[in-house]
Amino acid sequence: MGSDEIASNDSKNLPMSTRVEENPPNSTTSLLSSSIKYPKPSTSSSVLFSLILTTCVALFAAIAFALLFYSSSKKPMSNLIQENAMLLKKLKHPVVIIISSDGFRFGYQFKTSTPNIDRLIVNGTEAEHGLIPVFPTLTFPNHYSIVTGLYPAYHGIINNYFTDFDTGEKFNMGSHEPKWWLGEPLWETVVNHGLKASTYFWPGSEVHKGDWTCPKFYCQQYNESVPFEERVDTVLSYFDLESDDDIPSFMTLYFEDPDHQGHQVGPDDPQITEAVANIDGLMGRLIDGLEKRGIFDDVNIIMLGDHGMVGTCDKKLIFLDDLAPWIEVPKDWIQSYSPLLAIRPTSNHSPKEVVAKMNEALSSGKVKNGEYLKVYLKEELPSRLHYSDSDRISPIIGLIGEGFKVEQKKSTNQECGGAHGYDNAYFSMRTIFIAHGPQITRGKKIPSFENVQIYNLVTSILGISGAPNNGSMSFADNIVLHRH
Ligand SMILES: *[C@@H]1O[C@H](CO)[C@@H](O)[C@H](O)[C@H]1NC(C)=O
Ligand SMILES: *[C@@H]1O[C@H](CO)[C@@H](O)[C@H](O)[C@H]1NC(C)=O
Ligand SMILES: *[C@@H]1O[C@H](CO)[C@@H](O)[C@H](O)[C@H]1NC(C)=O
Ligand SMILES: [Zn+2]
Repeated sequence: MGSDEIASNDSKNLPMSTRVEENPPNSTTSLLSSSIKYPKPSTSSSVLFSLILTTCVALFAAIAFALLFYSSSKKPMSNLIQENAMLLKKLKHPVVIIISSDGFRFGYQFKTSTPNIDRLIVNGTEAEHGLIPVFPTLTFPNHYSIVTGLYPAYHGIINNYFTDFDTGEKFNMGSHEPKWWLGEPLWETVVNHGLKASTYFWPGSEVHKGDWTCPKFYCQQYNESVPFEERVDTVLSYFDLESDDDIPSFMTLYFEDPDHQGHQVGPDDPQITEAVANIDGLMGRLIDGLEKRGIFDDVNIIMLGDHGMVGTCDKKLIFLDDLAPWIEVPKDWIQSYSPLLAIRPTSNHSPKEVVAKMNEALSSGKVKNGEYLKVYLKEELPSRLHYSDSDRISPIIGLIGEGFKVEQKKSTNQECGGAHGYDNAYFSMRTIFIAHGPQITRGKKIPSFENVQIYNLVTSILGISGAPNNGSMSFADNIVLHRH
């Protein structure tokens, strides 16, 4: 999203813990099972009696245990929702608002004073060293991983644009046909459970899936010109709906900044500082609006970004034409140049040979900046990237050094700016994660984690069961409070 990404067709495109914590059903049963004590057989004359007693007690315990297990494991979701709702004062059901500030690199929050974001941090849970995006660290793949809990190979949005080589059809950021968008996004999960969801922009939100039909009132069509304030005010207005049932349980809110500025001027420019202060002001507008309605402490707010940003400058370039003495890599093989090099050679070339020749060239010492590019057969990429299990992913993927760009031929283009999309192991690609609300542990710092965990976090807060995904079921236990 972000105007620059749409316009261009290169790859831009407390310790005061009040832990009432109790985790869903299973932990209850395991706690119980350890507290059942069987009487030891006595050695007196009443051995028989005590044996019978023991048997009865054991039998009783077993039956009680089985009943408990049955009732808790089969606990209807509506009970969980009610239990979660007991943490609320005014609202009748849990609400999660997820806010994305595009390209909010981890650390930006230290550039200037951010009193509103700080409020969320002080009484909420924060990823102390940032949120780890999925690879490639681009806007569409990451936003869709956040709402599906799936790595891009499994949710299908493997880049901001790509070609389906089985059909020849092209995906771009305006493609809303369901066939591209695999997996089950949160808004779909929520409405499939008979609850309401609303989206004020999010990649994939306009796609009809399951019971989600992108209804006009609850689903805004992407229009980057809508002022950020108007977006916040519309989200707030959902809380003014007369019937509680009409207030969405799950809401999204999206801002193009500071990604927009980051591409133009890089991450270390005063314009970024200004954009960050502005985003903090918008968070203040949201918090104030919720406070005026007396529901700030009733609403779970998750503030995050999709990826970070790194400076890219003139000298950090790698030209594919420089590889010609070893291998010609023609333009029409290239699906994406930077910061993710994706190559699909024509069928008369073996990808394996192309990879071998390219790496020979790059490591020869004769290609300028060659040491900052390494190409792989997708199956041989480091497995931590989870970037192979999809026909949409090109057979050859090049990992580009932080801040470098690949181009076809030498140009006089000497521009400085910013980019993202690189290996998600780079610290510069990290973004922020802050959660605050009635069901969120207060004043907690957690280690960095991948954004595929967020899907389960949201379903856990809402007390609904989610679709299979790549997050771990226990992740939410660190953060989410349930009251029984
Ligand atoms: C944190 O919560 C406490 C208790 O509700 C409140 O008194 C305090 O003002 C909050 N801190 C911030 C920074 O909002
Ligand atoms: C996009 O939003 C702007 C500002 O609110 C508005 O003027 C414009 O008409 C909208 N465009 C579309 C296509 O709705
Ligand atoms: C991710 O989740 C999908 C859906 O459950 C599954 O098919 C896939 O194997 C998972 N991949 C990884 C790497 O866990
Ligand atoms: Zn961007």
